[in-house]
Formats: sequence, C-alpha cells, structure tokens
Amino acid sequence: MKILVIGSGGREHAICQQFLKSSKIDELYCAPGNGGISQIATNVNISVNVISDFNKLADFTKKNKIDFTFVGPEIPLSLGIVDYFEANGLKIVGPSKDGARLESSKIYSKEFMRKYDIPTARYNCFSDINDALKFLDKCEKNQKIVVKADGLAAGKGVYICSSREEAKNTVNQIMDYKILGSAGTNIIIEEYIKGPELSYLIFTDGISYSIMPASQDHKRINDNDQGPNTGGMGAYAPAPLAMMNDLNKKAEVIIRKIINGIKAEKINYKGVLYVGLIIEESSPYVLEFNCRFGDPETQAVLPLLDTDLIGICDAILNKELGALKIDWKKEFSVSVVLASGGYPGKFEVGFEIRGLENINDKDTLIFHAGTKFESGKFFTCGGRILSITSRADNIKTAIDKVYSNVRSIYFKNMHYRKDIAWRALNE
Ligand code: GLY
Repeated sequence: MKILVIGSGGREHAICQQFLKSSKIDELYCAPGNGGISQIATNVNISVNVISDFNKLADFTKKNKIDFTFVGPEIPLSLGIVDYFEANGLKIVGPSKDGARLESSKIYSKEFMRKYDIPTARYNCFSDINDALKFLDKCEKNQKIVVKADGLAAGKGVYICSSREEAKNTVNQIMDYKILGSAGTNIIIEEYIKGPELSYLIFTDGISYSIMPASQDHKRINDNDQGPNTGGMGAYAPAPLAMMNDLNKKAEVIIRKIINGIKAEKINYKGVLYVGLIIEESSPYVLEFNCRFGDPETQAVLPLLDTDLIGICDAILNKELGALKIDWKKEFSVSVVLASGGYPGKFEVGFEIRGLENINDKDTLIFHAGTKFESGKFFTCGGRILSITSRADNIKTAIDKVYSNVRSIYFKNMHYRKDIAWRALNE
C-alpha cells in the first residue's frame, strides 16, 4: 500500500515507523516530514497548514495513487483537510472539521461536555472583556483561576492564575492586547482543579472505539515541573496511576459518553481522539480534547502497539473497528525529549547532532522532530529536536535504559529533563 502521513514532528516519525513495520507497506510519503523521516520515507514539500494548498496535497495523492492519508497535527484537521479530501473521493484518517472543533474551540468542547454529562471543571464563557472582568470581581481575591483562550494557540492558550488580579491581567492580555490573536476573541474562565493528569488516546471510527494504554506527559521545561510550559518534554506509558482506584474503568465510562455524543451529533470522526483527564481525589475530570495523536505521548504509546497500524487504519476507514482486536505489548515505555537550550523561548539552531549511531539496542527508538539532514549529517532546526524511547518489562529499567541512551547523544545547548517517569516509581 501507499500511504501519505501529514506532519513533521516526533509524533509523525513514530507514526511513519509504525506503518513501516507492516508487511502491507509499499511506499511511504510524509508532508512535509523532517530530517529523520527523510531517511525512511519520501518527504513531500507541500504546505499542510494552508487551505489553498489542500488541492496540491490532493493532486499529489491522486498522481501517486496513495491508498490513504493519515493526518498527524491539528491545524490541517481544524481547517477541514478531511472534508476536502473526502469531497474529492480520497481516503483519509482523521476527523472532519466538525470533529476537530472538539480541539479547535474550547467553548464548543465545554458545551459538548455539558450536553453529554461529561465531568469537567465548572466554567463561564465570555466574548466581552468587561463581562469577564466583572465576573472576576466577584471571585475570591486569592482564588486560583484558569483562563483559557477559545481557539488554537499552539499550547499557549491556558493560564493558571494564582489570584483574581493575575486572572484580570491575563484577560486583559488576551482580549485587549490580543497576545494570542484571534484565538483569544472568546475566552473561558474556569475553576481550578488540582491533581495529576492522564492522557488517553483512542482509535475510533465514530461508532466503535479502542483505548490505547494511558500515558502521562511532562509539560514543563525543567525537572520537578518547574519553568514554562512546552509542547511536552517526555511521556511514559502505561501510566501506573491509571491502574489505581479504578481510574481506567472510570475513564472508559467517560470515553463511552464522548463517543455516544459524537454519534448523537452525527460527527464524521474517523481517527484518533485524545482525552486529557485531571484526577482529583480519585475522580477524573476532562481537561481537554485533542482531535489527534498527542505529542510526545505517541512516541511512548505507539512502540507498545503489536497490531498492524495499517490494519487499524483500514478498519477505521471501513467503520469496522469494533471487529478488530488490538494488542499491546505488556511492557513499559519511557520517552525523553531532547530540546534546544532556550526553548520554549529563544534558541539557536544549526548545530550538528552527534552520537545517534551509538544507539543500537532493539528496545530503543529515535524519533526526530526539529532536525534536518544535510551532507550525511543531522542538524538541529527547531525547539524540540528528538524523542528517545526505550521499552522494558518494568518502568525502572525503561527509565535507566532511555537515559543511558540519551547520554550518548550530543548537540550544542542540548536540554532535557532528567526526571521523566520518575513519579511512576512512587505510584
Ligand atoms: N501532549 C499534549 C498534546 O499533544 O497536545
């Protein structure tokens, strides 16, 4: 089969590696891809974030007789790439624009949760800054408050404010100074829930669903969850927390309600749904939906998959997922992100990446994100550069293995967290 993957991150490299494990794969393409992906697939230099270029992607798939396209990131999904491809008779795995609204509009997702009785933090929506500020005036002075931009903000749209004044300042920044552009035209003010988070990735054809092993992401840049939020600095799966206090069962009740809601709304949803939960006193609440595989959760979860990903995509496209048994390795996987020093703020690029050739144990995988390949060498060209994932039959060995591999890689200003998955040892 011939497959086109859309995207350019570590997540897409993990998806490409998984497709290549299948005996059914003949040719693999990735638009736009990255340095690492160029070693295992053909990179396609077409923009994926511009609606007016969807016709170029569609023409590419027709010309190259692509059997189906798999979409990694949220922007093309929110712009309606699935609707465009399907209108042109092309097979594509991902939700329609309607389904992607579960991620692209936080207000829509909260209304969906309210409608389908899905537990989530209490909230109010605002389109007028004065109404938002008046509402905050009625809150307790030292109350923690969450302010969220409605639209897509590349992971920068959620603010946990420690006081009413900080929340008012944040509302001014978003709605008056427009620091997030049109993503902040409407906002949500939400009660703060404290607790650990769990990420559930779910394959669904819109009728049936299959839940992947629960994972945990590490969003802050530094150890002990210090410093600014990032796209994610590492992940591990399955998260031992999910196996405590019946959390997997409680999560499944929530996921069933979400899929029933998707059906009731007649949403065309064929792909991956990400449900982000926060756990307070053993009760899960939905923090957010994403309409795709998570990054870096995918780099931890997919290496545990034992069933052919092409077979899963076929079942999703034919709405036969309910008849497919999906198997997972009974192992733990830990994935550590190596980033450019300075990220998520300013950073320099163009440094040679050394030591990748030293990684040759069969339980460790390298996923590229911000890399380019030139004259036989890899160079940094982004914030998050690589994810290194190791598997083992227990979490401690997986942690030791991944860090021993990470230590053999070097690029100037390289930064990584030293504590990925350590909390799992205490759970
Ligand atoms: N890891 C969070 C996300 O993919 O958005």
